[in-house]
Amino acid sequence: MTIQWFPGHMAKAKREVQEKLKLIDIVFELLDARIPLSSRNPMIDEILANKPRIVLLNKADMADEAITKQWISFFEEQHLRALAIDSQAGTGVKQIVTAAKEMLKDKFAKMAAKGIKNPRPMRALIVGIPNVGKSTLINRLAGKHIAKTGDKPGVTKAQQWIKVGKEMELLDTPGILWPKFEDEEVGLKLATTGAIKDTILNLQDVAVYALNFLKQHYPERLKERYSLDGIPEDIVKLFDEIGRRRGCLMSGGAIDYDKVAELVLREIRTEKLGRLSFEKPE
Ligand code: G4P
Repeated sequence: MTIQWFPGHMAKAKREVQEKLKLIDIVFELLDARIPLSSRNPMIDEILANKPRIVLLNKADMADEAITKQWISFFEEQHLRALAIDSQAGTGVKQIVTAAKEMLKDKFAKMAAKGIKNPRPMRALIVGIPNVGKSTLINRLAGKHIAKTGDKPGVTKAQQWIKVGKEMELLDTPGILWPKFEDEEVGLKLATTGAIKDTILNLQDVAVYALNFLKQHYPERLKERYSLDGIPEDIVKLFDEIGRRRGCLMSGGAIDYDKVAELVLREIRTEKLGRLSFEKPE
């Protein structure tokens, strides 16, 4: 689902997240493991201020494992705890509660020292850009299906706490934040991974970006998937070769570049070219 992010929407989204922060002990910042920087809100540090936070690299099942490890070290160097998870299958999700407990142990120890015998559960909020997997993770943590709120900033309903075992409660409405789309490459990466709809950017532009990236970083996968002997220098020739091999042709027999673009992007998003990461830490 795509949101039109006008300045007013951004200000409102920020305000809504900041309102929710008052209710919670810890934030789970959900990022796409394939594009951790491009799937990040550009104002996140300012919005979250000093609230305890865990970075969750979601869709890690689709990302290059070795690169995800590098990202975890990258965030840890910035003193941010980071975990790789797959919300769809549930991999790594149990660790979230353990890590949150560890992070909040001093706060809760202080509560205990004040004589509070049964401390309340930790309260958590998930934040992230659209399509990063917020609802999937909420359902995973809840162990049941919670209806998705309209994916629009400003669409509100009564907030409820979802129990995650005995030790944690989660706000059922996540904080929806915007990506850094003033950067063209960020937009192309979001489109390549399917985070933004294909109607927003030109499909062929996105496929050109994706194919150039694969050519540079995953040439063997590209060759294998499309049975190429070599990868042509010229991107149009690469489109031609893929189109010919896959029968993406127009009625007169000419290559249908839209079809090639659609095919390549679909295959990237459905892991036909294996696990791919489109960003590496600097
Ligand atoms: P949002 O609330 O942040 O907007 O995202 P949502 O949970 O709706 O997830 C967006 C898409 O990403 C969904 O796919 C969801 O299944 C998928 N997804 C979420 N987490 C993971 C993950 O860890 N691994 C993988 N591989 N996919 C994940 P969809 O195609 O939009 O819908 P559907 O396939 O669930 O029908």
